[in-house]
Amino acid sequence: MAYEMLITEISDYVGVIRLNRPDALNALNAQLLRELADVLGQWDTDDDVRAIVLTGSEKAFAAGADIKEMSEKSFVDMFGSDYFTNETEAVSRVRKPIIAAVSGFALGGGCELAMMCDFIICSDTAKFGQPEINLGVMAGIGGTQRLTRLVGKSKAMEMNLTGRFMDAEEAERAGLVSRVVPAKDLMDDAMKTAGKIAEKSQIAVMAVKEAVNRSYETTQREGLLFERRVFHSLFATEDQAEGMAAFTEKRSPKFRDS
Ligand code: HXC
Repeated sequence: MAYEMLITEISDYVGVIRLNRPDALNALNAQLLRELADVLGQWDTDDDVRAIVLTGSEKAFAAGADIKEMSEKSFVDMFGSDYFTNETEAVSRVRKPIIAAVSGFALGGGCELAMMCDFIICSDTAKFGQPEINLGVMAGIGGTQRLTRLVGKSKAMEMNLTGRFMDAEEAERAGLVSRVVPAKDLMDDAMKTAGKIAEKSQIAVMAVKEAVNRSYETTQREGLLFERRVFHSLFATEDQAEGMAAFTEKRSPKFRDS
């Protein structure tokens, strides 16, 4: 499938997806999200991709769902199509880690898309917000749920009720992003981080992703049990033997994803 709204590239086992609708600040429409779901689905089973970086432009990661596309929709259109659900669930289904590299605006669906990724690295120019309230609606793909879990009720409630933006410094303080870097270093940093993950055992990487995500889906007791069982099961892998032998022999491990 040729992509019109994405630029994609694989380099050194890192797949990079750049949202590319510059005239609309990367607003998310049905086609863009279909393309995104398509490439993520392919890369999830592509051995040349071991980590993924999702990014936008310097001015905008994505300024939200496409308001012009949405403005004509009725309740029946939205409910009947379960608007964006298939596409966004495709993002959550990916088993390889996805880093959101955010510069500029990450608003509405853009903020929600960044939060669907496994973690966010942002530039010092980043601005996060859920301004749907200003359009007479509300967040629809995670802005009241993931944001609340990430930054707590007070900030999530204020942002969703007032539509105010959070800058990079506040986003780091609140736990929305893992790190803030100067804008000029953003891609370099995200690529290095993804590259580091790409060197690990993919079995262990997928296990970590499942276990951390489990902490959002279940009680702590169940989450701890899940973690423990997955940890135990990694002792059935050759990568565990190799990783521990390499440590003892004071050399770098050679993981074979087995
Ligand atoms: C469609 C958008 C857009 C959007 C920007 N554009 N955001 N088009 N949908 N979400 C377009 C503008 O219309 C304009 O096109 C061009 O991008 C540049 O934007 P400007 O507004 O001229 O830029 P600027 O003055 O720098 O302001 C930037 C901005 C502002 C603050 C980000 O564009 C803005 O407020 N955008 C909307 C943000 C928003 O409300 N997002 C939430 C959407 S609802 P033209 O053709 O005029 O040049 C949502 C629901 C999610 O996300 C739930 C989904 C299920």
